[in-house]
Amino acid sequence: MTRSRKLKLGFILHGVGRTWTDWRHPDADVGASTSLSFYTRQARLAERGKFDFLFVADSLSITEKSSPHYLNRFEPLTILSALAAVTSRIGLVGTLTVSYTEPFNVARQFASLDHLSGGRAGWNVVTSWLGDTAANFSKTEHPAHDVRYRIAGEHLDVVQGLWDSWEDGAHVGDKASGVFVDADKLHRLDHKGEFFQVRGPLNIKRSPQGQPVIFQAGASEDGRNFAAKRADAIFAGALSLEEAQAYSRDVKARARGFGRDATRLSVLPGIAPLVGDTEAEAEAKYQELASLASLETGLGFLARSFNDHDFSGYDLDGPFPDVAALGRNSNQSASDRILAQVRAENLSLRQIAQRLASPRGAFIGTPEQVADELQTWFESEAADGFILFEALPGQLDTFVDQVVPILQARGLFREDYEGTTLRESLGLDVPVNRYTAARSARTAA
Ligand SMILES: Cc1cc2nc3c(=O)[nH]c(=O)nc-3n(C[C@H](O)[C@H](O)[C@H](O)COP(=O)(O)O)c2cc1C
Repeated sequence: MTRSRKLKLGFILHGVGRTWTDWRHPDADVGASTSLSFYTRQARLAERGKFDFLFVADSLSITEKSSPHYLNRFEPLTILSALAAVTSRIGLVGTLTVSYTEPFNVARQFASLDHLSGGRAGWNVVTSWLGDTAANFSKTEHPAHDVRYRIAGEHLDVVQGLWDSWEDGAHVGDKASGVFVDADKLHRLDHKGEFFQVRGPLNIKRSPQGQPVIFQAGASEDGRNFAAKRADAIFAGALSLEEAQAYSRDVKARARGFGRDATRLSVLPGIAPLVGDTEAEAEAKYQELASLASLETGLGFLARSFNDHDFSGYDLDGPFPDVAALGRNSNQSASDRILAQVRAENLSLRQIAQRLASPRGAFIGTPEQVADELQTWFESEAADGFILFEALPGQLDTFVDQVVPILQARGLFREDYEGTTLRESLGLDVPVNRYTAARSARTAA
């Protein structure tokens, strides 16, 4: 059976695991987060499963209580560049923050990755929610939440402007005439804005995708508007089916409001499937995972949403501490969601920490059951695809070998890559260079 709309699948490379305790699993590789061979195996496996892309998340500040993967991990574009050399079709998406990078460097790095990989680069644009990051970048203050999104808009304007520095065909390389480049097809940006002053042009030619693909995961008001206006694909937090539907409908309505074709926009909830040969085996895997989780994991997830705040000093069975302001300026949407649960059910610190430590997602069961659930979400406007975490060692293998074939047989997922670039996989056009477009308009007039 063939269908025109296909599921999109990404896989998050998360080394030693997602939580504070995953590394203690008997099959976990404790050195995975900085192991090229570990990531090479996962990348090739995901490519064998025809996944659209690999994703490397990132943040730039740790404390001794950060999760094991955060304590010791690769810089995203470095590992993605290495993986470009051992894969050929799968997209390579990495996080870089707008709050602590220069647009010129970011434009150059992603253009380089796009060239290195033959058109497979994607940028996950984040604003950084941990205030202590400022101390690693010679700054005394972390920008406020709304300012961060203003920075994001301007930063992305500059990066995308720089990516258009060179029109197609600018690099002539004609030895006979001695013309290396056609200077008429080289453009300075001359950007002077609120946060950045960048002359340009960029010192690397237009990349195979024209422009690398833009990912985002905004979930607050400002975040949703930014994602709806600028992103090609949007990551969503771990949500229920109903919450995912509401989120997807909301960002797509916003995208239409910005004059965009929302059918091209992919909303991808993050999920961590647990697949077993039988329902009982899948349930046993969930119990195995839950037994590894500790209060430390729950307090760690809380800290992550509230600006790395240390929750260990509070009375665990007392009321939830008054830390709302910390959340509002940090991971606003995640902290809002936690506080809403705490208030609605009058949860103590221990109760909410336990709930966060071993969440029971919807994707637990046999390969058929997990495929059914993915299909339900896909067909009910909750998701255009998913970004997968590996919940337990070996789950990516199981998903690729047992769930992907079911999705393919149902016509929900590709049998093979449509082309060689990430844009082709995601069904996105190559953007026309702005100067080429202006030239064509002048010629037509
Ligand atoms: C699947 C997924 C991956 C994310 N990856 C990163 C990341 O690598 N780095 C980061 O700082 N934030 C990451 N985020 C968080 C978002 O960038 C954003 O800060 C968060 O969703 C809160 O958005 P808000 O500020 O609009 O509330 C991710 C979110 C999701 C759902």
